[in-house]
Amino acid sequence: MLKSFTNEEFLDFTNVKVQQKALTTLNEVRKGLGKDYPLIIGKEKIFTEEKIISTNPANPEEIIGYVSKGNKDLAQLAMEEGVKAFSWWKKIPVEERVRYLIKGAEILRKRKLEFASLLVLEIGKSWREADADVAEAIDFLEYYGRQALLLQKEPFLIPYPGEENWARYIPLGVGVIIPPWNFPLAILVGMVSAAIVTGNTVVLKPASITPVIGYKFVELMEEAGLPSGVINFLPGSGGEIGDFLVKHAKTRFINFTGSKEVGLRINKLAAEITKGQRWIKRVVAEMGGKDGIIVDEDVNLEEAVKIVVTSAYGFQGQKCSACSRVIVHQRVYDEFIEKLVEEVKKIKVGVPEDFNNFMGPVSDKNAFNNILKYIEIGKGEGKLVYGGNRIGDSGYFIQPTVIIDVPPEGVIAQEEIFGPVLAVIKAKDFDEALKIANNTEFGLTGGVCSNNRSNLEKAREEFYVGNLYFNRKITGALVGVQPFGGYNMSGTCSKAGGPDYLQLFTQMKVVTEKF
Ligand code: NAD
Ligand code: ALA
Repeated sequence: MLKSFTNEEFLDFTNVKVQQKALTTLNEVRKGLGKDYPLIIGKEKIFTEEKIISTNPANPEEIIGYVSKGNKDLAQLAMEEGVKAFSWWKKIPVEERVRYLIKGAEILRKRKLEFASLLVLEIGKSWREADADVAEAIDFLEYYGRQALLLQKEPFLIPYPGEENWARYIPLGVGVIIPPWNFPLAILVGMVSAAIVTGNTVVLKPASITPVIGYKFVELMEEAGLPSGVINFLPGSGGEIGDFLVKHAKTRFINFTGSKEVGLRINKLAAEITKGQRWIKRVVAEMGGKDGIIVDEDVNLEEAVKIVVTSAYGFQGQKCSACSRVIVHQRVYDEFIEKLVEEVKKIKVGVPEDFNNFMGPVSDKNAFNNILKYIEIGKGEGKLVYGGNRIGDSGYFIQPTVIIDVPPEGVIAQEEIFGPVLAVIKAKDFDEALKIANNTEFGLTGGVCSNNRSNLEKAREEFYVGNLYFNRKITGALVGVQPFGGYNMSGTCSKAGGPDYLQLFTQMKVVTEKF
């Protein structure tokens, strides 16, 4: 009998003992860097000639690992293994499938600092962010395990005289799982575990800059006893094997989290019928955001500034949920900016293993160049009042950046930058602020700092985002507590970590017997 679900507690990195343990673990992990990692297809561990070289964004000279790279032939093999495994995995009792998840969660809990260290090294997360990523991964395993048991209970149907009506949620088939690099453990684990616990098998293509973390999770599930073939691990180029897998006739569903551009491409490709295909592919796509916080005229500005700073610069602004626009009531605009800049100046940026640093590097060279390009655009659209430059000459460090007086239609007010750049926009009143906040093609997260009840209620009705937060940060949704997912171009609003998520990987079968 499973105890009821509770979210995994976070570690306290202000505690010296926790710090010592974290650094000791990180040193151990560091000693093991630079290994070769295979693809995993069925029972086979396959080492390819061509490799993805994963590096530390704080120090690109440091190699995290050499990861074998899939091609179309290997992708074909992975699909075949997935199909084979589906024929028996779908018949495994749900209780057994759940056990693998719960066992996986237990192993992950014991190796929390090891995985957190890898997140610090492979993607530049601060300790707190890395720990939250691992905790969320554990939560997904525990939560979806329990949800799968609930889903198997017979759904309530209206009784009908002279008949027995029976219904069950059954799995779909082989799914392609395509996660992003920004929560390379939590989101990957959530996407995979939901699919397999409901009886599907998967081909997992991890993000190309965080393949080692992906590999370590698949290895951990092997340790938890998960049979071969249920998760097939296939790193490789999104363009080459991503397209191949999405178009494949045997692909039954695609679970994607990433950018709008790639999500829309997948949605389009998946809609085209390939020769031999016998179903309409299901696409679950969670995509980007251009998330705004409204600061009303009646708030404690120190508190509002803290909320905005945490939401905008945590993990260098590389969260789909991050605040990239703050829309401020004109009456408090100047004072808010003054306090904001004061607070942003205090942010420490540097190597993420140093507990004092709030911000680390951005993910890789492409992101680094892209963010700097947006900062240049922003300088032309508004006024740069803090940041705007790289820090140091090795590692992808960028200053937390504040650009004020940004027009609501400006490029940096509309496009997802995915970096530590905050656009500040002035609004004449709350209604205008709400209009500006909604003036985006996205609809993921949003926030309101206000003490005005009628404004909060207006926002509840009219602020069109999947996850709206009042008087708190807009990042860090907790599994089971704040089911997460967005509207419009932010995706299919599939609410990861919510009570309806598992149904997306199932179909209901109804059997009627006449007596
Ligand atoms: P991305 O779209 O560049 O890549 C996502 C994944 O798609 C990666 O695994 C990548 O290799 C793969 N890919 C690339 N081209 C492909 C193709 N043609 N076919 C199939 N797969 C392909 O996104 P990213 O840079 O990894 O992640 C950042 C983006 O993810 C941001 O836009 C962010 O907002 C979004 N995101 C959204 C959520 C959410 O829940 N809505 C959560 C996290 C991140
Ligand atoms: N689920 C993550 C958050 O809420 C992206 O910040």
